[in-house]
Amino acid sequence: MRILIKDNYRDVSVEAASMVTTTLRQKPGAVLGLATGSTPLGLYEELVRIHRGEGLDFSDVTTFNLDEYLGLTGEHPQSYRSFMDENLFNHINIRKERTHVPDGSLPAGDAEEMCLEFEAAIRRTGGIDLQVLGIGGNGHIAFNEPGSSTSSRTRLVALDERTIKDNARFYSSEDEVPRFALSMGIGTILEAREILLLATGEQKAQAVAAAVEGPVTNQVPSSALQLHPRVTVILDEAAASLLQNASRYRFIQKAEKQVGVQLF
Ligand code: GLP
Repeated sequence: MRILIKDNYRDVSVEAASMVTTTLRQKPGAVLGLATGSTPLGLYEELVRIHRGEGLDFSDVTTFNLDEYLGLTGEHPQSYRSFMDENLFNHINIRKERTHVPDGSLPAGDAEEMCLEFEAAIRRTGGIDLQVLGIGGNGHIAFNEPGSSTSSRTRLVALDERTIKDNARFYSSEDEVPRFALSMGIGTILEAREILLLATGEQKAQAVAAAVEGPVTNQVPSSALQLHPRVTVILDEAAASLLQNASRYRFIQKAEKQVGVQLF
């Protein structure tokens, strides 16, 4: 894993945007895996800025989002589809038909078929080139809660109590937070060619330390990322504050700049 520790949220977002931009300049028809939540907001803002200011082109790009709440239509203000439209897709020249978010409006009984089709659609595009991830306070990635299998695929999942509490801030009460979601599996995520995990704030420090330096265990779903050969983790100081090897990561970060290579 390549661990980059930045001074603040803005620097995390700028670094992440520069990685996405590099991917798109090398491969204009790239397939991006995208995440929701407050963490990637700065990244999306920066991508919109680069699109407007430097002409970053999304016309050939395809995207797949990690997850969606079950029971919300795409028009619901808390749906991840609305989140992506409002924070990124409506402001860049992407073709909406190439943006994929699992459909949370289907009855639970249709979820299995929809999830199989979602996976098939990823395969038809040739696979995800770069997957952006956030991390839950309990160490989840997408909605793969503790206990999720490392080989899990896109499926219907039940949310963890901590996730419901964490996400209640977007709803008027905790009771309104959906209890189920459709989520890419850990196995699906690990098939991306490259992965970018973003985490900021001290409320993520424990999850980050467990994901990056702890044992690979299904109790910390993000620890499965240690099994992938090309993962970059971009943290702010607060999210990195419980890392035992922080000074070594900083040393490697400097060495990368001197030598001009990426060290995973
Ligand atoms: C949700 C999403 C995750 C996201 C996590 C963290 O539960 N399903 O994909 O990583 O929240 O969100 P935030 O960035 O708001 O802390």
